[in-house]
Parts: sequence; structure tokens; C-alpha cells
Amino acid sequence: MQKVRKAIFPVGGLGTRFLPATKALPKEMLPIVDKPLIQYAVEEAAEAGIEEFIFVTGRNKSAIEDHFDHSFELEATLTAKNKQQALDTVQHMVRHPGSVIYVRQQEPAGLGHAVWCARHIAQSEPVAVLLADDLILGKSCLGEMLSAYTSGNMVAVMDVPENETQSYGIVAPGKDDGRIVEVTGLVEKPAPAQAPSNLAVVGRYIIEPGVFAHLDRQDRGAGGEIQLTDSLARQIGVVPFRGFRFSGERFDCGSKIGFLQANIAFALQRADLQQRLRGWLDERTT
Ligand code: UTP
Repeated sequence: MQKVRKAIFPVGGLGTRFLPATKALPKEMLPIVDKPLIQYAVEEAAEAGIEEFIFVTGRNKSAIEDHFDHSFELEATLTAKNKQQALDTVQHMVRHPGSVIYVRQQEPAGLGHAVWCARHIAQSEPVAVLLADDLILGKSCLGEMLSAYTSGNMVAVMDVPENETQSYGIVAPGKDDGRIVEVTGLVEKPAPAQAPSNLAVVGRYIIEPGVFAHLDRQDRGAGGEIQLTDSLARQIGVVPFRGFRFSGERFDCGSKIGFLQANIAFALQRADLQQRLRGWLDERTT
């Protein structure tokens, strides 16, 4: 098995569901408690052993580049004020020099297009793709996937309510051992009546290099966008394609309700917040 060393973080979307917050601020910089979504995704990838971090950005996304760089003025001030813990926090998140690469997606033509923009950097190795707005509470989802990955394509999957299939890529399942499910078909955003199952793809992928040849065609799919799932579907029967049921809890932070739920769920895990938050929630809801 070839080691997966690189991860692509597509952050070129417009985040229109979060306007006006996302007019000047990248959606991926929205915080869950005190950490931006993109940092959770980068930490998940690092925990899984990823060595190269490829961000596919767009206009208005420079805050992401600044976030993962040194902030000399801030660090000098924290040092002068002897705020060691805060200093450690901002210094530890700066990645090894040369391990972070930025590429621009000039127009938000879809997730498949964003991933295709990283084709020269991905080269001829399998790469991971992480969508920061799919936030997973629990074990590193990518780490779990990599420990089960052998070859071909793999996507994280979860069951969704039948009336929500039009919001996801939906898998036609084959052989299924409860954790790994063979993908025999994949449809992007089908209406419930057309959906082959209620097993949905969430934003973690391991893709093999052959996918880029299909993305090269630049075919438009659901919503007029170039869909990653369409190119993955074209490889069914050519290379192995598996879905992976991860153990964590996923929050759709691209939606307002998912974002609010994630903030509460993550805050309830924090020793410094859980007691006061729980008390306040009890007061509000009884
Ligand atoms: P979404 O479709 O959820 O993001 O894409 P969006 O388009 O930014 O959001 P809305 O629907 O307008 O609110 C999922 C991920 O793919 C990235 C997004 O940045 C997000 O992380 N993406 C999407 C791109 O990088 N480029 C695109 O052209 C589209």
C-alpha cells in the first residue's frame, strides 16, 4: 500500500448559507468555541500522519494563510506579558516550513474543480481530501480511514434521514461488513425517490491519482458544478471503491443548525466551559 502523505483542503467556496458573516470572512474561519473550522481539519489530518497540507483557496481567503503563519507582533506582545499558554497555542499551530501549499481556485466551480486545481501538487500518489465544514467530534476520522485504506478510492459515509438525500452524494451499497461498505454506485444529491440508499458521503475522501483524469473533462453535474463524486463514480469497477463508517459524530457546519449544534457539543466537552454551559442550557430549556 502506498502511504498517503498529502491532504487537500478545498476552501474556495463562497459560503452563501452563512451570509453576511462570510462576506469578508472565509466560512472555514468560523470558530467552534475558540478554534476555526479549518484548524480542526488540519489537526485531524496531522493526527492521521499527513505531512503536506494543500489549501485550495479563493479570493477573500487570505485570513486562512495568515492563520497558519507566525504573527510576530502578537507573539512579541504575549512574550512581553508573560502569557505563556496563549503563546504556546499560537506557536504550536504553525506548521513545518514548506509543508503548507496554497493554490488558487479562480472561480468557485464546485468541489471537483477545487480538487482538480491541486492536481500538479497531488501528482501520482493517493491523497486525502478534507472538507472543513464537516466537523467530526471523536477520533480522527481520516486516521480511522487510513488505517483501513489499502488502494483505490475511499469515502467516509453515514446514514442520513431519507428525506435529506438531496443534500448529499448517496452510495449504492454492495458488500457491507458494518464498517466498510463496497460502493457500487454513487449519485450526487438525488431526490429521496431516486436515491439508491440513505448512505451519504461526508467530507472525507481518499482519492487515487486516476480521479484527476476524469476531473480533467470538467463535466458539470448537479447544481451546474464540477462534482468530485461524478469523477469517483466513473472509476467504479476500475479501481476498488469503499465507503467507511467512522466512529465519531459529524456536524454539518456549513448549515446554521449544524454550526450551532457543533458549538454546543464541543463546548460541552471542555472542562473550562461544560459546567456553566450545562447549567445555562438547563435554565433555558426547562
Ligand atoms: P459547499 O458547497 O458546502 O460550500 O462546499 P460553499 O459553496 O462554500 O457553501 P454554500 O453552499 O454557498 O453555503 C463544501 C466545501 O467545498 C469547498 C467549500 O469551501 C467547502 O469547504 N468548495 C466548494 C470549494 O473549495 N470550491 C468550490 O467551488 C465549491
